[in-house]
Amino acid sequence: MSRRFEPIHPKCPHLLHGGDYNPDQWIRTPEVWDEDMRLMKLAGCNAMSVGIFAWSALEPEEGRYTFDWLDTIMDKLAAHEGFAVLATPSGSKPAWLSRAYPEVRRVNADGTRQPHGGRHNHCRTSPVYREKCVAINTRLAERYKEHPALLVWHASNEYNGGDCHCELCIAAFRAWLRQRYDNDLDRLNHAYWSSFWSHTFPDWDAVVPTDRGIHGLMLDWERFKTHQTIDFFKAETAPLKAITPGIPVTTNFMPSHDTLDYGAFARAVDVVSWDSYPNWHETGDDVAEAVKTALQHDRCRAMKGGKPFMLMESVPSIPTRGRVKKRKEPGMHLLSSLQAVAHGSDTVQYFQWRKSRGCKEKFHGAVVDHEGSERTREFREVAEVGAALAQMDGIVGTSVQPEVALILDGENEWAIREGARIYLGEHTKYRGDCQAHYRPFWEAGIPVDVIDQTAGLSAYKLAIAPLAYMLRPGFAARLRAFVEAGGTAVMTYWSAVVDESDLCFLGGVPGDGLREVFGVWEEESQSYYAHETVGIAMREGNALGLAGAFRGIDTCSVVHAEGAEVLATYTDQFFAGSPALTLNRFGKGRALYVAARTEAPFLAALYGRLAADLGLRRALDADLPPGVTAQLRTDGETRYVFLLNFNDRPARVELDAAYTDLLGGEAVAGALDLERCGVKVLRSPGQPGRPTAVDAEES
Ligand code: GLA
Ligand code: ZN
Repeated sequence: MSRRFEPIHPKCPHLLHGGDYNPDQWIRTPEVWDEDMRLMKLAGCNAMSVGIFAWSALEPEEGRYTFDWLDTIMDKLAAHEGFAVLATPSGSKPAWLSRAYPEVRRVNADGTRQPHGGRHNHCRTSPVYREKCVAINTRLAERYKEHPALLVWHASNEYNGGDCHCELCIAAFRAWLRQRYDNDLDRLNHAYWSSFWSHTFPDWDAVVPTDRGIHGLMLDWERFKTHQTIDFFKAETAPLKAITPGIPVTTNFMPSHDTLDYGAFARAVDVVSWDSYPNWHETGDDVAEAVKTALQHDRCRAMKGGKPFMLMESVPSIPTRGRVKKRKEPGMHLLSSLQAVAHGSDTVQYFQWRKSRGCKEKFHGAVVDHEGSERTREFREVAEVGAALAQMDGIVGTSVQPEVALILDGENEWAIREGARIYLGEHTKYRGDCQAHYRPFWEAGIPVDVIDQTAGLSAYKLAIAPLAYMLRPGFAARLRAFVEAGGTAVMTYWSAVVDESDLCFLGGVPGDGLREVFGVWEEESQSYYAHETVGIAMREGNALGLAGAFRGIDTCSVVHAEGAEVLATYTDQFFAGSPALTLNRFGKGRALYVAARTEAPFLAALYGRLAADLGLRRALDADLPPGVTAQLRTDGETRYVFLLNFNDRPARVELDAAYTDLLGGEAVAGALDLERCGVKVLRSPGQPGRPTAVDAEES
């Protein structure tokens, strides 16, 4: 049975292509707008994000609205069969607002109020700011509710987790705490272990989020900021939901940063979108950069149960940030754009459409350069993406249902930042560990969902929780039930150490009942200097048939098997002979514990074995050359296989069946050559007898 998600809006059953468009910067020269329209057609762009920082142009004085220029742009877009990803302007405040209502400006921890200027720095609690946002958003929605160009709402821009210590925020924080701790100050004091250093809070008014020594408090402050940001988002988008209920609302996430819990935020948006800025060619290892980026794409897709997401921002050439300003090499733009689509994006959008003439981002990569024509390499490469996407209507709404879940949890990341680093030092690399455990699947072309600790596990065969230092309520029970029911779980060193308040579990690591599930006790952890490694050898005749010698790096824990079978042991240091990898049979499933951070070959061997053992579905039934991945999108009948070469040389892939090359239009089978930065999108008619999980779920 065929199963697809709806397009982002039924008005446009195509993949979206476009970018941040700031016609308000060119009001004095409206002929530029006509040129924009001509160039958009040429570049194959159909969706423009308009008005993101346009508050001053839309409301130059309090209560005086000037929508005429936006009317013109919306009409021009519609006349050119384009759509608007229409923004609310709250990302940047007009000067009159900052001046008339100083409370809209954030306050630093030392009590000083920030000056007007910059962006993304409004107080998320201020009632006046919310009121002014609601006022302008109501007018935007009323004005454009019937407009044929209105496709998606782009709320604000890159909400972030920056602090605001104003009285309003602190009062809201205390109210949030009262609710969280049932108005019971003693519960809060216990959760914060505040007798330490005599920090017991005598009353609610004594609670201020400035004491980094109280980890539970700082964790709650992070939670509050996410809560308050979502609350702000809901407040400013309420008029959009009421006046235009059929128009989806999104806001562009920054999941590469750790300041907001995007797992929680995703529940509040209709469609997830994110801004992706990999440093291609900068580290000398594009494969590592591709893995990192792929993981974020898989995370954004999984946030709403596989629903296609939007690549809201990416750069046609170079961003302003970055140590070295290297441009995307020829081919990289198509490759990185289709990488997003391969992992579930239904859009390829940029920052920015046209370079601004002045200010901070005037040299930031853009589709249209200051030169102004279609003759730049950047423009041509964007047009190439446009032409490719135009061939790919069939992909809209398709997705993938992976059998593997990698657990990357936003709250755990905060806890590691605040608490775990003290113990394991600079080696506490949560994202690095997640990427290391993800990479073998990327290399094998096995689809992965990247989920957080609150997500269900029952759809998966394999669940991997690297460095799950903090356990959120219910996660241990879910993992236990998953294994009991036959799932295979992998957890690493220094997991299940603290609860959601960063209070250490008593009774040994891993805590919260997981010691029994994994059949191990982790007695101690330590970290190593960069020049040190610890030998690891697979034990002969182990249950998974693993063999070989490997190395632990950075962090190695001393673990005791308590019922688990030892698959590998350390071969040196004072703990030589103790377990480095264990497997415990629990219920109908298996729970594996990886006691060290290891070099890549160890994880490749482990996951290669588990993949074979579990018969994990691959996008392509073939071994892939290094640096090449295969990703799958399907509606349960037709399969779309993306082959992406991030290696610094050409590669050859042996296809497992006959396909149609969607971009070239011809039939392909057997050996397929990919150039450097090469990408292919292959369509198969589906494989009866080898149902996808999407089918399986339907039947
Ligand atoms: C962010 C912002 C954009 C722009 C780009 C530059 O993603 O949302 O407005 O500043 O960065 O890379
Ligand atoms: Zn504030």
